[in-house]
Amino acid sequence: MTDLISKSRQAFDFAGRQLRQLIETHPDFFPIYTQGGKWRHGGEAWTNWCEGFLGGQLWLMYRHTADPYWRTQAEHYSRLIEHRKTDRNVHDLGFLFWSTWRRWHALTGDPAINAVVIEAGRTLSLRFKERGRYLRSFVADESLFIDIMMNVGIIFYAAQQTGDAELTRIAMQHCLTTRRYLVRGDGSTAHEGIFDTDTGEFLRQSTHQGWRDDSSWARGLAWALYGFGAAYSFTQDARFLQTAEACAAFYIERTPENGVPPNDWDEPNPQLRQESSAAAIAASGLLNLARLTGDPVRGRLYRDYALRILDTLTEPEFLALDTPGWEGILKHGTYHWRRGLGVDESVMWGEYFFLEALGKVLGYD
Ligand code: GLY
Repeated sequence: MTDLISKSRQAFDFAGRQLRQLIETHPDFFPIYTQGGKWRHGGEAWTNWCEGFLGGQLWLMYRHTADPYWRTQAEHYSRLIEHRKTDRNVHDLGFLFWSTWRRWHALTGDPAINAVVIEAGRTLSLRFKERGRYLRSFVADESLFIDIMMNVGIIFYAAQQTGDAELTRIAMQHCLTTRRYLVRGDGSTAHEGIFDTDTGEFLRQSTHQGWRDDSSWARGLAWALYGFGAAYSFTQDARFLQTAEACAAFYIERTPENGVPPNDWDEPNPQLRQESSAAAIAASGLLNLARLTGDPVRGRLYRDYALRILDTLTEPEFLALDTPGWEGILKHGTYHWRRGLGVDESVMWGEYFFLEALGKVLGYD
């Protein structure tokens, strides 16, 4: 553990250098993934969901250093995305605003900052489909994504802040629908659910970034592990804790010794043997779960496993510290292998959740 604390500090120092380089070389640019280790390239985005992760890392750097440089940058990059609080085209407003404006509000208590977070939560709730009872993904009315479990928390938050019971109903229904149709009996998850938009009937499981419709895409499961834990902290509904723990059990049982899963656990001889962003998300989610579970034995297991993941990710195989010219922090992440986007690269959310998890090791929250 002493070793991991010093490795975490070293990783933060390195992250500070990489982030400073990024924002000073490419001001006001929001990358998603690297190509050959470089952030600036012409590759497509698929969808605009990552714009909070840069500001979020800058807030984490400020928490780590207390250096006003990072605070100024974090506020600037947060302001740049304020207009997205009314964006009805994506299902990712939790990713955008929880990592930025919510961190800003936690620091200041300023009601004007809180109002931005609440408005983002209200906007996200407008994606709710009464027939089927889910928040629709960005791709179509008929589509529910597991990823939305990481975003629904901002609706619970807006509900708590405003006392609006309708927001609570929407967030609860979404979680229950996701739990019922996307989380399987063995704790694995499907990426997507397809519904009949006329009747609300659930039709089938599907995927965009996993191996097959019936397989287990690792990042999707990591989103579920973390997201159902967050849903439990908002609601105290034991069903959500049980789901998060089922996902955690699957992750731990199916992942190699070093704690880093392949892109999809079910793919035979996977070409992408390591998906570091899923590991970073899982580490942060498991550290949360260690505190949420009522069982001290499982709590210890989750914490120890999260530390094992972080021990791996802070080694030179993953941390780009010894990789000259690499502009990211964490290597071996994958965005979308089917589309050939960000395959075996650094990815913005991987960087963010990696730093978030290391921050928890160093006692930040
Ligand atoms: N679209 C979210 C993800 O790639 O995990």
